[in-house]
Amino acid sequence: MEADLAGVHEHKADVLDAVAPRCRLERHGVDLSDPASRRQLLDQVGTGPPTLVLTEGVLPYLAEADVAGLATDLAAHPAFRWWVVDIVAPGFLTLTDRVAGRRLAAAGASLRFAPTQGPAFFARVGWDATEVRSSWLEQRRLDREPTLFRALWTATPPRAHRFYRDMGQFVLLRRRTDG
Ligand SMILES: C[S@@+](CC[C@H](N)C(=O)[O-])C[C@H]1O[C@@H](n2cnc3c(N)ncnc32)[C@H](O)[C@@H]1O
Repeated sequence: MEADLAGVHEHKADVLDAVAPRCRLERHGVDLSDPASRRQLLDQVGTGPPTLVLTEGVLPYLAEADVAGLATDLAAHPAFRWWVVDIVAPGFLTLTDRVAGRRLAAAGASLRFAPTQGPAFFARVGWDATEVRSSWLEQRRLDREPTLFRALWTATPPRAHRFYRDMGQFVLLRRRTDG
């Protein structure tokens, strides 16, 4: 099941028209910042077997209140047991705004969610972080680091590496159950 803005689904349907999905694919149009339509979708799809939710690249586009609302709404459905999120650090927003702010604004988009508490943000909305990985360190580990990143890492002192390490994180969350 794939959820995105309805217009994005239409675009994907156009460009992927000739490609057959390799699994059963259900697309749902939803604006995750609209609580009513978000809840309607989760009520519809959140009744099945234990489910992993994956929001790759999505949360940074939402306001903090919408991420908290989404987390709370997901946690209200026992079927949503696991959730993989990626989060960025506040410094990443500053950097992105400088480098790509105008292009994003021209496309009607902006990056907004960058919790100062990092993965601990999710603890107050029903989700515990069970595994956290730095996207930068994962790229290094898998030898998939862009040349620029590799040069930056090599040219900067170790104290700068903490900033790079925390710039983007993948987090495996587990829905908190009472008791
Ligand atoms: C960086 S892309 C990630 C794409 C995704 N990983 C995929 O494979 O399709 C960010 C996605 O977030 C979606 N998005 C941004 N704001 C949204 C919102 N309010 N409701 C639903 N989707 C949203 C965008 O339309 C876009 O498809």
